[in-house]
Amino acid sequence: MYGLRLIGTGKALPSRVMDNEAMTAYVETSDEWITTRTGIRQRYFCSEGESTTTLAIEAARRALEDSGVDRSEIACLLVATSSGEYAMPSTACMVHKALELNEDIPVMDLGAACAGFLYAVETARALLMANGGRYAIVIGAEQMSHVLDMTDRNTCVLFGDGAGAAVFALEEGAEYYSVVGTRGDMAIKVGGPRREQPMEMDGQSVFRFAVSTIPMCVDKLLEKSGETLDAVDWVVCHQANQRIIDASVRRLGVPAEKFYKNLDRYANTSAASIPLALAELRESGRLVSGQRMIMCGFGGGLTWAGVMMRA
Ligand code: ACO
Repeated sequence: MYGLRLIGTGKALPSRVMDNEAMTAYVETSDEWITTRTGIRQRYFCSEGESTTTLAIEAARRALEDSGVDRSEIACLLVATSSGEYAMPSTACMVHKALELNEDIPVMDLGAACAGFLYAVETARALLMANGGRYAIVIGAEQMSHVLDMTDRNTCVLFGDGAGAAVFALEEGAEYYSVVGTRGDMAIKVGGPRREQPMEMDGQSVFRFAVSTIPMCVDKLLEKSGETLDAVDWVVCHQANQRIIDASVRRLGVPAEKFYKNLDRYANTSAASIPLALAELRESGRLVSGQRMIMCGFGGGLTWAGVMMRA
C-alpha cells in the first residue's frame, strides 16, 4: 500500500482579531451566548490587503520550509477553499506562482466546504499515485468574512478567516486509511447563481449531522485499520463548535484529551481548520514524527471525510 505521511506544516492568520464583544457592534449577541453555545471566544478577520490568496501563500511557504523539501520536488498543489478571491485564476495558481513551483504539475482548487482539506488530501494521494512524484502541498484557506452576512447572528459569529498548509510524502508501506462521503443537501448555502448570496445555514440540522458523522468516520477508520483509539495519538476534527466535539467524544466513550481543540481562538475557519490545528500541534512539539492521527471533517454539501495516517 502507498500512503501519505505528514512531513511539514504552516499556518497564516490575518491581522484583525475580533473578540465576541466586537461582534456586538454588528448583531444583537453576547460573549456569554457565543461562548456557552459554541466555545468560540474570538476569530480573525482579513483587513485591507489580506485575502484567501495571501493567507494560502504564507501558510504554504511555511509548510514547505518546515518540510525541508526543495520546491522543485513538489509534484502537486491543491487548495481547499469555498471563499477563493477569484473564480479564475484559482487560488492554487496564485500560490504556484508565488512559490515558483515546476510547470509540469497539477495545481487546482477544490470545494468541499469544511471537509475540503481532507478531500484534497485524498485527491493529492490519487494524483501522486497516478502521475508519479513524491511530495504534495495541500492547503486549506478561507476568507469566510467575505461570504458572511454580518446582519445574521445565526451565522456571522461562528466563522473566521485563516489558512493552514501541509506537505505530504507518498511512501510505500505508509499507513493510510480514508473515508469520504456526500449527502446532497441544502442545509448550508453560500453564493447563489452569481456568487452574491451570503451564507445561510440550518444550524440545528448541521449540528445533528456533525455529531453523528464524527463517530461514524472514526469507527469506520478504526474498522478498516483494525486499530483501537488507544493506538491513536491525536484526533483532529473540523473545528466548528466545542459542543459538537464534546458530544462526539461522549458517543465514542474515549478520553477527551486526544481530541484537539482550538476553535476558541479561531472560530470555524472551514477548510482551513484541520491544517491550522495540525500546524499548531506540530509547532508546539505535541505532534511528532511517527505519531498516528485521525482527521475528520464535515461541512456544507453536506460532505464528510476522515483520514488515518502517521506524522
Ligand atoms: N446571539 C444570541 N442569540 C442567538 C445567536 C447569537 N449569535 N444566534 C442565534 N441566537 C438565538 C436564536 O435566534 C434562538 O432564539 P429563539 O429561541 O428566540 O428563536 C436561540 O438563540 C437558540 O437558537 P438555536 O438555533 O436553538 O441554538 P443552538 O443551541 O442550536 O446553537 C448553533 C446554534 C451554535 C448554530 C448550533 O446549532 C451549531 O453549532 N450548529 C452547527 C453549525 C455548524 O457547525 N456549522 C458549520 C459546519 S459546516 C461549515 O463549517 C460550513
